Amino acid sequence: MEKYSQVANLIKEKGNVIAFTGAGISVESGIPAFRGAQGLWEKYDPEEYAHINSFVSEPAKIWRMLREMIKLTFDAHPSPAHLALGTLEKAGFLKAVITQNVDGLHQEAGNTNIIEYHGNLRNLVCLKCRKKIPLAQEVLTVMPYPTCDRCNKAMKPDGVFFGEQIPISAIEAAHEAVENCKIIMIIGTSGVVYPAAEVPFQAASRGAAVVEINLDPTPFTSAVTQYFLEGSASQVLPRIIGELGLRPSDTQP
Ligand code: OAD
Repeated sequence: MEKYSQVANLIKEKGNVIAFTGAGISVESGIPAFRGAQGLWEKYDPEEYAHINSFVSEPAKIWRMLREMIKLTFDAHPSPAHLALGTLEKAGFLKAVITQNVDGLHQEAGNTNIIEYHGNLRNLVCLKCRKKIPLAQEVLTVMPYPTCDRCNKAMKPDGVFFGEQIPISAIEAAHEAVENCKIIMIIGTSGVVYPAAEVPFQAASRGAAVVEINLDPTPFTSAVTQYFLEGSASQVLPRIIGELGLRPSDTQP
């Protein structure tokens, strides 16, 4: 289709691509998105489960949801979409991935400059003394929840809850990536959570071309998107890789 070759030509011409990703890129890895019919927030009201105040007041309840989420993440492998982004970086086109995801799948797919806007699930952090420990599989068996060995307080995965600050290092790194990019690819995000959703608007206002990949239009689509590639990220991104003449073997991490 013409749009695919146009996007591939744009990438070849301009280089310096950044990706801004959301939960949709991990759906084919077996991790449901947050919103929509199969979404995590259909089962767990985010007001009730994803706010930091809920974690502080009822850690045992929130850990029941977290165990489910962490288990899915530990079991997941990179999707063809993640692998295609790994290939785009290896080929020199993709300079950074700014992700709202906490699943670590961009790392597994071989990307190296990954800005985790909403933190990650690699560590647990104590909200009192800020001690961090690795989030290992065994943690899932600790009932009712893992505690800090210094403060005896509930430990929280190092992902950002509503009501918490975005890591300053992520804000700064995202700013730098946006300043330098010529193309931003918005992939699998509903674009409704701020301040993360500011990133594509900032890139567009600095003159970056905007490519968006999603099953459905989003608030970005009519506002800033120039090339909307409708479909699953795991079908669309490998097609773009193909248009660029990269080999399927290049998609291995
Ligand atoms: P959402 O669940 O809000 O949106 C997922 C998006 O991916 C939707 O626009 C879907 O149409 C799209 N989608 C689903 N499957 C897809 C596929 N196979 N290929 C391409 N697109 C697909 O997830 P996010 O936008 O990531 O924050 O959510 C943003 C933030 O809200 C998350 O980081 C999380 C959540 O609350 C916090 O918890 C702080």
